[in-house]
Amino acid sequence: MMGKRIHNFNAGPAALPLPVLEEIQQEFLDYKGSGMSITEVSHRSKWFDDIINEAITRTKRLLNIGDDFQVLFIQGGASLQFCMVPMNLSLTGKPVEYVNTGTWSTKAIKEAQIQGKNVQVIASSEDKYFSYIPTAYDIDENAAYLHFTSNNTIKGTQWAEFPEAGKVPLVCDMSSDFMSRPFDAGPFGLIYAGAQKNIGPAGAAMVIIRNDMLERVPQDIPTMLKYTTFSDKNSMFNTPPCFIIYTVNLVLKWIEETIGGLENMAEINREKAKFLYGFIDQSGFYRGTAAEDSRSLMNVTFRLPDEVLEAKFVEAALKEGLGGLKGHRSVGGCRASIYNATGVEAVKELVNFMKAFEMREG
Ligand SMILES: Cc1ncc(COP(=O)(O)O)c(C=O)c1O
Repeated sequence: MMGKRIHNFNAGPAALPLPVLEEIQQEFLDYKGSGMSITEVSHRSKWFDDIINEAITRTKRLLNIGDDFQVLFIQGGASLQFCMVPMNLSLTGKPVEYVNTGTWSTKAIKEAQIQGKNVQVIASSEDKYFSYIPTAYDIDENAAYLHFTSNNTIKGTQWAEFPEAGKVPLVCDMSSDFMSRPFDAGPFGLIYAGAQKNIGPAGAAMVIIRNDMLERVPQDIPTMLKYTTFSDKNSMFNTPPCFIIYTVNLVLKWIEETIGGLENMAEINREKAKFLYGFIDQSGFYRGTAAEDSRSLMNVTFRLPDEVLEAKFVEAALKEGLGGLKGHRSVGGCRASIYNATGVEAVKELVNFMKAFEMREG
């Protein structure tokens, strides 16, 4: 017997669309007449080949990109990309540039520094505890790339518009807002996203790389750390994370066929965030922590008057079927992650609970 499902506000691994989970459940023991679960079929079979190719086609269609980009699946999460990006895309005699907007950017910068690259941090919001997205920076037109984090999962900030870097390719960690809104992929040399927030379970990152970036990949780095190893073999040089790719494909199908694409997805995400921030702003009890013009539509971070109340809030919410509202352990407070699969209804229930809690405890 299935227990009651909660409204899931986890930051990652995070909610998946219910129809996707149901489809997985329904075909789990016998995938399309194979007599096997998808976790049992060979990655060299036609069944799996169709899945990975469909996932790639859907990604390209959703992002409106053509054959000048490759879509790859690489294990090691977004964190391995912090290392692979400078290893593969830096160029002798040219700096690699970074904008530091929080924990994840800091980690990306560290991985480039470990490799002895010429790292230039051209802007940072560390002076105000990473509560905003910097707007003033100068980009060196000689840079090999400019790296930034489009959505800062921990502090709840997000680039509303991406930096303009002219001919310098943008490289972006989109882990926590990938597939939440449409954007122009043209200026990007590489985009990566850990799957476990908006597009699937944990276990792989999706990497979208422009063909000209593949020409930069050095010969003398380990095979499994080269982007070309993945692009040459359709992400199947070795056994890929099959179940993750299968689930990602179903999530992308849900975005395309049920939601109707990224414009609609973005509209729903805007509506959810507006509703929640609107409530927080009129309350004297809850306080948003991100600068208003830098607020994330994905991770809504807020505080209550004190930490005792925050702990009580998280616990009481869970009793009401609202889970995952504790802030990241490094910053405390509360956080509601409202990714694609957390619907308008869930946000409305959260706001109702927040109102009742404020009445009781405020
Ligand atoms: C923006 C961002 N980048 C990178 C990571 C690290 O991802 P992974 O755990 O897949 O290495 C996270 C994880 O929460 C994240 O939110």
